[in-house]
Amino acid sequence: MKKLIAVLLSALMLMSMFAGCVADEPAGPGKNPYNLKTVKEGYLTVITSPDYAPYEFYALDKDGNPSLAGFDMALAQYIADYLGLTLEVVPMDFNGIMGEMAAGTADLAIAGLSPDPEREDSMDFSDMYYEGKQAFITTKANASKFTDLASTNKAEYEIAAQTGTIQNELAAQYSPNAQLVNLVKATDIIAELMSGKIDGAYVEWDVAAAYSVNYPDLHIVCEVPYDAEGNVIGVKKGNTDLLKYVNEALNKCVDEGTFAQYVAKALEQAAGDNYQGMLGPDGKPTEAPDEK
Ligand code: ARG
Repeated sequence: MKKLIAVLLSALMLMSMFAGCVADEPAGPGKNPYNLKTVKEGYLTVITSPDYAPYEFYALDKDGNPSLAGFDMALAQYIADYLGLTLEVVPMDFNGIMGEMAAGTADLAIAGLSPDPEREDSMDFSDMYYEGKQAFITTKANASKFTDLASTNKAEYEIAAQTGTIQNELAAQYSPNAQLVNLVKATDIIAELMSGKIDGAYVEWDVAAAYSVNYPDLHIVCEVPYDAEGNVIGVKKGNTDLLKYVNEALNKCVDEGTFAQYVAKALEQAAGDNYQGMLGPDGKPTEAPDEK
């Protein structure tokens, strides 16, 4: 009898092991259950530009050690887990992202990307995962100069947008008479605004709001209308399998409410000690953390 129970028990154990294999949840990093072709086998190579809280940035621990944070980065990990691939994030300045996607050297670009139709030559777009909007910003000291978008359109103003972003199109559209300044990092835009070098700038609304927490002198003038509202993931052009499963993963993440938790956590971390931009060769921030 004892023997029979033991046999039954081990049969049960075996069955549950197999049940684990066919569970509808993918199997986790390194398993590649969908047999996806990626630029590095078994890995999901994601490029991003970590100067963009709450999307992507570095959170600093109490010793000042940086780790990638932001809701885009949490989403990247979720997708990699869902696909059963190991996540590899490659940080770079935003203006490098389009070239890498055109060259096909990354699987995904997750960088607060707007679905600008001009980019569709170099990448495919996922479904929308976040409804972002655009803003025009200045400082509290300059607030009275800018009352609406029309007031930004004067030759005497220097107005910035991040290099390679759709905010350049916004600047050209709404402030064509102003002097347009291109800056490589979102952080540079804030620094130049604070030091009075520039008068205003176009940035994503939530980025402006996140910076305002650490820079109380920042002032959001107004929302800026833009056709391709919201953010998508750039997927390696022509990798239709990857696109399909990325969409599956991101819709699940949004629908089940996990993504909303990532946003809440990112906002919390963006209000704490953080660093935005590229790390130095020693893997450390190259300047002092954001002032409080
Ligand atoms: N949404 C804008 C665009 O796609 C700006 C994105 C900038 N992203 C960043 N991580 N700095 O052009």
